[in-house]
Amino acid sequence: MSDPICKIDDIVFLRFTVQDLESQKEYLHHFGMRSAFEENDTIYFKGTGPDPYCYIASKGDENKFVGTGYRVGSRKALESLAESFGVEIFTSSEPGGGEYVSITDPDGLVVEVYCGLNRSSIEASSVPRLNAGVEKTRDTNDLQRFGKASDEWVVEEGEWKYQLTSKVFRLGHIAIVTENPEESIAWYQNTLGFLISDNLLGPDGARLGAFMRADQGDKPVDHHIINITGAMDDRFAGTFGHGGFELTESVDDLMAGHYHMKTVDKYFHEWGVGRHLLGSQMYDYWRDPNGFTLEHWTDGDLLDASVAPENVPAKNFVLAQYGPLVPSTFGLSMPSDEVSRYRENNPSFTEILKDFE
Ligand SMILES: [Fe+2]
Repeated sequence: MSDPICKIDDIVFLRFTVQDLESQKEYLHHFGMRSAFEENDTIYFKGTGPDPYCYIASKGDENKFVGTGYRVGSRKALESLAESFGVEIFTSSEPGGGEYVSITDPDGLVVEVYCGLNRSSIEASSVPRLNAGVEKTRDTNDLQRFGKASDEWVVEEGEWKYQLTSKVFRLGHIAIVTENPEESIAWYQNTLGFLISDNLLGPDGARLGAFMRADQGDKPVDHHIINITGAMDDRFAGTFGHGGFELTESVDDLMAGHYHMKTVDKYFHEWGVGRHLLGSQMYDYWRDPNGFTLEHWTDGDLLDASVAPENVPAKNFVLAQYGPLVPSTFGLSMPSDEVSRYRENNPSFTEILKDFE
């Protein structure tokens, strides 16, 4: 294959329009992000990592996924993209600064590529040290507590609520549902330099999609920066699947956030807690008030560019290492109150797969 137009360093943010910014802000705080900026009816939320923001939403007439922001390490990469697509390099007027080009992928989803974003240092935090039967990592006499321990529980209106949220570190990946997986996979390879980690093969052996990672040579990167799957239901072709946000303090951070979201009792729990097979992350998925699914994840695999693509049969991408079976609505954007009906009328992939076992 010929060289790609550029090679992305990493994914940075998701961009949406939503009708109700206030309810989205409330959700994002519960989900474990912080407000970084707010201007011109646009909210910018961040994690504890260096990027200026990892989530952007503007007030709009519809609830819509707009696109994804990535970053590159050199202006030359922007120039290559601008030349190939016949577009200009713009200076961003948004608070994160930098220069960028804006293009669209084969489904019409916006891809913004930035150089020179204002990045900060990583915020200090403390990651719990775990003791296993065969290996102890915690200091003797150290009584480990997460957050304020049981003081995180308070009674509000007669109900026990767990106050501590997860702490989002950064956006780690996006999943998209595409009209034509072959075309999309090739586009992301050729345009952004993504490498295939796993080809997802259907029961008949045809490629249904792929997990792809950034090409950073010897530098280890996440197992996937994008997951592309073909739409099984045409109504969802060219739509947002989910956004995966890496957490700051590992497994306890994930479980704390789970019980926060659960006891807040306002949001739809889509799938989890479990551990993925492809990428190995522990995961927990929550639908936002606008029907978009955002994921908490932690403890994922890192690969360098030397690893060849794996061809993965359906069973191995449908079933987690452990956790609940995946529902039929997973990866499909829809309001929470439509989920039950959809699940009743559409078998999940794990149900379909039974016929092939
Ligand atoms: Fe994910």
